[in-house]
Amino acid sequence: MDQQLQLNDFLEKYSQGGPLELRVAAAIDAIAAASVSLSQKISKGALDGITGEATKGQERNADGDVQKDLDVYADRVLREHLQRLPLAAFASEEEVNLEIRDPGASICIAIDPLDGSSNIEANMSVGTIFSIVRTPAEVSAAFSLAGTNQLAAGFVVYGPQTSLVLTTGDGVDIYTLDDSDNLYKRTRSRVTIPASTSEYAINSSNYRHWEVPVRTYIDQCLAGSDGPHEKNFNMRWIGSLVAEAYRILTRGGIFLYPGDARDGYGEGRLRLVYEAHPMSFIMEQAGGGASTGRERVLDIAPRSLHQRIPLIMGSVDEVRYIEELHADFGARDGMSAPLFAKRGLFRV
Ligand code: AHG
Ligand code: MN
Ligand code: MN
Repeated sequence: MDQQLQLNDFLEKYSQGGPLELRVAAAIDAIAAASVSLSQKISKGALDGITGEATKGQERNADGDVQKDLDVYADRVLREHLQRLPLAAFASEEEVNLEIRDPGASICIAIDPLDGSSNIEANMSVGTIFSIVRTPAEVSAAFSLAGTNQLAAGFVVYGPQTSLVLTTGDGVDIYTLDDSDNLYKRTRSRVTIPASTSEYAINSSNYRHWEVPVRTYIDQCLAGSDGPHEKNFNMRWIGSLVAEAYRILTRGGIFLYPGDARDGYGEGRLRLVYEAHPMSFIMEQAGGGASTGRERVLDIAPRSLHQRIPLIMGSVDEVRYIEELHADFGARDGMSAPLFAKRGLFRV
């Protein structure tokens, strides 16, 4: 077990790096404090009015998702905890526009206050995702920059344990909330994702809508030891990005939410600014990969705040192989794919 370094100790040390690090540390501390409050609320569920039902007016967020009671509650709790911090801009999945606050402040924050909303009433793991970027010269462009501009990223999983996964650009650590003193204590440091895997996660009900390279990859996984990978695969699909990511950080794996032919899903379901960018930063910092299938997610600058993006992330060898499949099959109109094409010998 790690020497139980507390998150506070890490943030105290990190904040000594300079004025920018001081602001980033304060933001992470505020998000962690909000997550303690959310963890307590979520663990009570219906006993504390959390039903997972849609809000009274069936309000929808900017992306068209019906807002659940916990989506709105989590957004409010995080806002309250971040209110007193000097932030230049703030963005949330649950708000249409970014909020310009103090343009002279050095950082901006984007959040997915409650990830995995469809799991709330099912008592499955849900989470909070955050991305912290340096304020650009033009504050309104805060969330129009490539993901490589992030200063820190993390997520909290409200599951059997409440755990906070964090990167400030120097590896990935995992902190677990000790409910005896409500302190986050480091349980894993410098997490490394195994380069290869035998476990994939995808919503297979969309099979008929996928592009050829994705179908080919999943067909090859299903072919198991009779297929080009010459090994059997396991499948998981939790419906909470945070839970899938946590599993991948724990034992490797590949997660795919590709674009597909459904209306509105051409770029998949996940949002670039507050889901794919932070997750991709974490995956790469843990030695994994994160791609659309055609390009590195962190290289992509958002066209709009709630822009969706295909996300393929996890064990780096698998991400690279899926990119090869996309490259082999050409552009979007893809050609028919030899199901059992020999897997590339030179896996970069
Ligand atoms: P959110 O609840 O913030 O909208 O995110 C849900 C996302 C992600 O967490 C999960 O992987 C994915 O939606 C599940 O999508 P499907 O319901 O289409 O499987
Ligand atoms: Mn989400
Ligand atoms: Mn959400």
